[in-house]
Amino acid sequence: MTESNRKAPIALFDSGVGGLTVLLELYRQLPQESFLYFADTARLPYGTRSSDEILQFVREILTWMTQQDVKMVLMACNTSSALALETVRSEFNLPILGLILPGARAAGLEGRRIGVIATTATVQSNAYSRAIAEIYPEAKVWQIACPEFVPLIEQNRITDPYTKEVARQYLSPLLEENIDTLIYGCTHYRHLAKVIQEILPPTVKLVDPAEHVVKAAEQELKLMGINNNQAKLPTRFCVSGQTTKFAQLSQQWLGYYPKVEKVFLPLIDRSSISLES
Ligand code: DGL
Repeated sequence: MTESNRKAPIALFDSGVGGLTVLLELYRQLPQESFLYFADTARLPYGTRSSDEILQFVREILTWMTQQDVKMVLMACNTSSALALETVRSEFNLPILGLILPGARAAGLEGRRIGVIATTATVQSNAYSRAIAEIYPEAKVWQIACPEFVPLIEQNRITDPYTKEVARQYLSPLLEENIDTLIYGCTHYRHLAKVIQEILPPTVKLVDPAEHVVKAAEQELKLMGINNNQAKLPTRFCVSGQTTKFAQLSQQWLGYYPKVEKVFLPLIDRSSISLES
């Protein structure tokens, strides 16, 4: 591997601000690396899209990311990991990591009655229940789709009492099943950690796949000999929708007001862009 590979950023993407929970984990565990964050805000939410649409979006994003000379891609989106990872992995010549397997593996180490909260598309794919069943056949899994969460988070309604009420309703069937472990099966949901923790009994272990995909990324970088050993660059933020909206919303988690670039992916519906901008 050349020195330029080492210096290249690690790219990550999500439909919106959910992937920032993965970026914060990257900052924590891999502080010497540089990052490129892409949010497909013009087309969010992903969770109610068809698998064909998700696959098309992911292919466009990865094509663009390859042109940005990144050394690795983290799918900071469970929906994309569940629906597109297996297909695109062989189509692109760079390491691509997803959240499902690291999340499933970590959950089984915590308990055997596992709840998964995720988008409708992720739940329908059964990606988590299949992955858990393969590694821990004796584990029981309950999946709940929480379609209202992503719009509430993107509208910055995290502390709104309505959000807590919605969370209570989503979590209630899992509480009835006496789960001992809960997977944040959508990267957005970690932003609701406070709300969710107030509803769940303290004995329930919370698993954030972000933490574990970053561990896997670190191992992969070392294995490939492409971990950065030089000065890091500031994180580059790119979105397909409105730049100011993303910057304003992200500030609360990043602790700074990010500079955000607008990116036009080839097949984006232009009418939705002009409405947003
Ligand atoms: N944050 C993403 C996920 O982990 C996508 C959420 C959405 O856009 O519906 O699934």
